[in-house]
Amino acid sequence: MTELALTDLRCEYLVDPLGIDTPRPRLSWMLASNRRGERQTAYQVLVAQSRERLAANEGDLWDSGKVESDQSVHVTYDGVELSSHTQCYWKVRVWDKTSRASGWSAPARWSMGLLEPADWKAKWVGRDEAPAHESGAENGPVSPSEHRRLPARMLRREFSVAKNVKRATAYVCGLGYYELYLNGAKVGDHVLDPGLTDYAKRALYVTYDVTERLKRGDHAIGVVLGNGRYFAPRLRVPVETVTYGCPKLLLQMRIEYDDGTVSEIVSDETWRITTDGPIRSNNDYDGEEYDARMELEGWCRPGFDDSGWHHADLVDPPGGALTAQMAEPIRVTETLHPVALGNPQPGVYVYDFGQNMVGWARLTVEGPRGSRISLRFAETIRDDGTLYLDNLRSCKVTDTYVLKGGGTEIYEPRFTYHGFRYVELCGFPGEPTRSTIEGRIVHSGVERIGNFSCSDDLVNRIYGNIVWGARGNLRSIPTDCPQRDERQGWLGDRAIVGKAESYDFNIARFYGKWLDDIQDAQDDKGSIPDLAPAYWRFYTDNVTWPGAYIIMPGWLYEQYGDRRMLETHFLSMKKWIDFMSAFVKDGIMPRDHYGDWCVPPESQHLIHSEDPSRKTNGSLLGTACFYHDLRLMVRYATILDRPREAEEFSALAERLRSAFNDRFFCEETHLYDNGTQTSSVLPLAFGMVPKEHVGAAVDRLVENIVVTNEGHLATGLVGGQWLMRVLAEHGHADVAWQLATQRSYPSWGYMVEHGATTIWELWNGDTADPAMNSHNHLMLVGDLGVWLYEHLAGIRPDPDQPGFKHIILCPQPVRGLDSASARHRSMYGTIVSDWRIHGPTLLWDVTVPPNATATLFVPTHDAEAVTEGGRPADEAEGVIFLRFEEGTAVYGVQAGLYSFAAPYSPDRKCKIPKAATSS
Ligand code: BGC
Repeated sequence: MTELALTDLRCEYLVDPLGIDTPRPRLSWMLASNRRGERQTAYQVLVAQSRERLAANEGDLWDSGKVESDQSVHVTYDGVELSSHTQCYWKVRVWDKTSRASGWSAPARWSMGLLEPADWKAKWVGRDEAPAHESGAENGPVSPSEHRRLPARMLRREFSVAKNVKRATAYVCGLGYYELYLNGAKVGDHVLDPGLTDYAKRALYVTYDVTERLKRGDHAIGVVLGNGRYFAPRLRVPVETVTYGCPKLLLQMRIEYDDGTVSEIVSDETWRITTDGPIRSNNDYDGEEYDARMELEGWCRPGFDDSGWHHADLVDPPGGALTAQMAEPIRVTETLHPVALGNPQPGVYVYDFGQNMVGWARLTVEGPRGSRISLRFAETIRDDGTLYLDNLRSCKVTDTYVLKGGGTEIYEPRFTYHGFRYVELCGFPGEPTRSTIEGRIVHSGVERIGNFSCSDDLVNRIYGNIVWGARGNLRSIPTDCPQRDERQGWLGDRAIVGKAESYDFNIARFYGKWLDDIQDAQDDKGSIPDLAPAYWRFYTDNVTWPGAYIIMPGWLYEQYGDRRMLETHFLSMKKWIDFMSAFVKDGIMPRDHYGDWCVPPESQHLIHSEDPSRKTNGSLLGTACFYHDLRLMVRYATILDRPREAEEFSALAERLRSAFNDRFFCEETHLYDNGTQTSSVLPLAFGMVPKEHVGAAVDRLVENIVVTNEGHLATGLVGGQWLMRVLAEHGHADVAWQLATQRSYPSWGYMVEHGATTIWELWNGDTADPAMNSHNHLMLVGDLGVWLYEHLAGIRPDPDQPGFKHIILCPQPVRGLDSASARHRSMYGTIVSDWRIHGPTLLWDVTVPPNATATLFVPTHDAEAVTEGGRPADEAEGVIFLRFEEGTAVYGVQAGLYSFAAPYSPDRKCKIPKAATSS
């Protein structure tokens, strides 16, 4: 590949998105070339209203002309003002490093959605009636009426098309969940759509191109509505929960004809509705009940007799702004087959998928009409082979299927999901086999863009568990867990873990949406809840959980170079900072609510430690974290050119730092307060420790880990977000490695050794009280995932040229590890760092994508002997030797594929050079 090609055209991060509502979307593309030093010197973008015009090189919406610029990411559309429904076809060409023009890229497209409220002609329809609760007859903490049951709503309308259709577009907002059908077939592959929001603030609509399905003739459109969180699964358990009402629909289909005319099919009172379909109840926590005998054959085909159905009621709108869903929808992404089938009791079969996963089971069955099959889901089993359900709390996690009879029936639920490894099958007519059920994996369809591996099996398994944990909890919001009566977007859990996810998945849109959810949840005073959407009204005004709203935009900016995200959220972030600042007293921020959540407890059965020496002082946590938030705000204000605010934040930060050290730091012991690991980690991570004491403070932390805790961590959610990086960046990569490979309690290795295939909520997740013991939680990953990519493999963005425009490549080989390799597809293309130790030599293969550059830190004691492609490195094309620093030979490197070799000794003392530390 020597010719320069242009690939991966994106509009607002997405491939060919439909119905966007960003008035000036940003366009990005990648350069594909193996040529060293390839870069863009100029570009030209054409945007046209039709494919034909674009093909004729006519940019009737925008012709950027030749722009001398190396910008290939987030180029803001700057053409004719875009109105609702506009179709935009675009392509780009660039000029390469020698100023030669490339060919045009293949065309890409986007379309505009409904930009003004007045564009919506459709009316909200539904049926605001909830039948009396059927008794659940359940023993347990929850009254039957808490298991909120509601049959799915089915809505339909017929229409005819008398002319040739040029384009047909459907805009749908069905709350809580919807499925759209046209002429008997489902439209699109989304499930559990649309994404979760606070519906009183925002409701997401989804756009489909249905042109191909609308020929001349009669048509039927059908929608099934499920509850999701709109008709909340619980009202009071485990805590008071916001609910919005019965499901409802807003649908508008715009049909443009060849003759230039337009007609619209809209939801209104002429639609018909029934609640007597096969989905008798549906609830995220409790499962779905499906009675196939009640299927309404042909209901979404023309000619169906709906005379027994009601007219749809006009219902109140949800209240929130209608906004285009600009994040990847949830999809079924993989199907797993069971690895084992047990039969612990007569008629009870238990399938083992060998993996804690999230989604549901697809059942294949043949049997007599009326047979009732139930599927229950659990993360673990008891010794006798039956399901262990205690840690799912009030969730019934039961999908029920009643057969219609007469042949093979295949069932998978539509409006529920479960977190499980084991599935119990009861009521099966006959003898089930392994192929009776399959596991369907379901999550937000974010692209997988990264991979890490190394020569240590345990670390690979831990990494695999992290990825599975992410897949299970990317659910239009990042959930804490997927299985019990919670599944909320707790902010604290993802402040840093989200950054690790960003190496594995393209989560720019996903987290961008979550930032919007958080902004929506901010109250007038400025308070931010601990979870968003705030289905639980937890406005506790602590620093650590809401502070994620300050932390996340920073790493999103670094990973994606997205300044707009900072702009969009700056004032809301400032509002929170101002609101919280009022709590500061004498330079100390006392607001903490959760402590260093889930430190390893002293007893196997405890959830939270009761030992004060394991706990970190709340004011210490609050002050350190708020200091960090303020420093981030200084940075954002500087990036956004708001010097006055930068100064204000900086002044307050200084007050906090000095009060913090006065109050908590002991100059004799070099410890903060009671000397927990977290109490050392945070001030070191945030640069609060007086310079002259940094070395000693690090030593005390290391002593605590290595000696006091015999090579174990003692951090919870808060301290764990910085632990590995603090060690690595202060010359103790080997201690970080010891933690990463530890197998005894508490450690990630302990989880693996005790059967974990995801990450547990508790370090003692195999023995602790089930009241809070999820086996698929991400929070305790802390910064382990970030450390694997950024330190062990050594790939990270340069905060000053964000989005991997300039890449810092600085691996940190550790004793006992022979190789590590990471790939990450950035907005510029795939970055690779792949090193292995071969005798006295470190071999390092590196890829820097076109139009990006890198600074490379080669770990060696002998800069002169470093080679690239077999020749002295400083003679290699695209490589410039910069300096020798702290045990690394530093090179400036242009785009390309490189193979370095360097003399290497495991005994070498190496500190990560300052320039390569995380911000
Ligand atoms: C959740 C956590 C969350 C925490 C905060 C738990 O129940 O599962 O992930 O951060 O509550 O209190």
